[in-house]
Amino acid sequence: MNKQEFFRQILRGKANSPRDNATAFAPSNIALAKYWGKRDTELNLPCNSSISISLGSLGTKTTLRASNQDRVVLNGEEIPLDKPFAAKIINFLDYFRANLWQGAMEVITENNIPTAAGLASSASGFAALTLAANDFWNLDLDTKTLSAIARIGSGSAARSFWQGFVKWQRGKNPDGLDSYAEPLALAENSPSRNLRLALVKIDEKAKKNPSRDAMIHSAKTSPYFSAWIATAEIELHKIEAAITSGNIQELLQLAESNALAMHAVMLASRPSLLYLQAESIVAIKKVWDLREHGAEIFFTIDAGPNLKLLFEENADTRAIIENNFPSAIFVNPFA
Ligand code: DP6
Repeated sequence: MNKQEFFRQILRGKANSPRDNATAFAPSNIALAKYWGKRDTELNLPCNSSISISLGSLGTKTTLRASNQDRVVLNGEEIPLDKPFAAKIINFLDYFRANLWQGAMEVITENNIPTAAGLASSASGFAALTLAANDFWNLDLDTKTLSAIARIGSGSAARSFWQGFVKWQRGKNPDGLDSYAEPLALAENSPSRNLRLALVKIDEKAKKNPSRDAMIHSAKTSPYFSAWIATAEIELHKIEAAITSGNIQELLQLAESNALAMHAVMLASRPSLLYLQAESIVAIKKVWDLREHGAEIFFTIDAGPNLKLLFEENADTRAIIENNFPSAIFVNPFA
C-alpha cells in the first residue's frame, strides 16, 4: 500500500465541508524506549514499538485557515514553500486535499519549546497538524486513527496525542492501520508521576543526518541492528512494567541503557552515525560521576547531541542538576 491509498482508505466517504479555520495543540514527547528502524519506509512503519513521556504544555499549536494561496508561517515568520519545513507540511496536507476539499490554505504554526532546549519539534508539529486537519475538514476521526495518520508525517508524532506515558504499537498489518499509539494507564498516586526532565542543550544546529535517512542506513549497514530489534520489545516490556508498577529508579536506568544501545547501533553503522559531540560525552560523564556520588540522575539522548536528564522529583536532586547544568530547562510532564 502507498501513502495515497492509506489516506484514501481512511478518508473515503468523509464529509467534504471544511470550516474557515481550525486550531489544535499537541505536546512534544521524549522516547524512553526508542523507535529506531522502519519496516516500511513508504508508510513509515516501525520495526519496534516505543514508549515516550509527553512534555505537558511544551509543544506546537497549529492553525489551518482557508486562503487564496498556500502559506506556511512558523513562529511569525513566513517559510518559503520550497524549504523542507514548509514542503513537508504542504505535502502532508496534499494527501488530505486529494480526497477532500482542495482549496489553498494557510498553516500558522507556533512552537513554544524554547530553542535553548534543543528539542526537535516534528513530533508535536505533525500531531498538531493532524488534529487541526481533523477539525478543519470535520473528519471526526478517533485518536488512534489520527495517531496512525501523524505517523506518516513523522513516526514519533504518533505518540504526541496524549499527555503522560504513551506507547506506540509497531503493529503487524501491511496497511499500517494497527500501528498507532495509546496512553499508558497510571494510578493517580503512581510514583511514576514523579518523573521530571531537565533539558541540557549541547548544540541547536540542524542535524547533519536526519533520523529518517539515518534509520534506514542503520538498518542496512549496522551489524548490531538485528540485536537491537531482537531486544527492543523485551526492553520495552521491562520499561512498561517499571512505569505501571511505579518503579521509577528501574525506569530511569532502563531508559538510559536503551538510549545508549540505540547510539551503539548508530555508531556501528557503516559509515558510522555519530550524533554525540565532545560536550555530550562530558555531560554523560558528569551524570555518571554525580551518580557515583549518590545522585539519582539519568539521561536519554535522541538523534542529536543534546541530553535529556531524567530524575525523580526531589529538591536535592534538582539542586544538584541546577549546580552542574546551570542552563538546564526543567520540565514537569504532569504539571
Ligand atoms: C531517536 O520520528 O523523527 O527520536 O519517523 O523518520 O520522522 P521519522 O523519525 P522520527 O525519529 C525519532 C527517533 C528518535 C527516537 C524516538 O523518538 O523514539
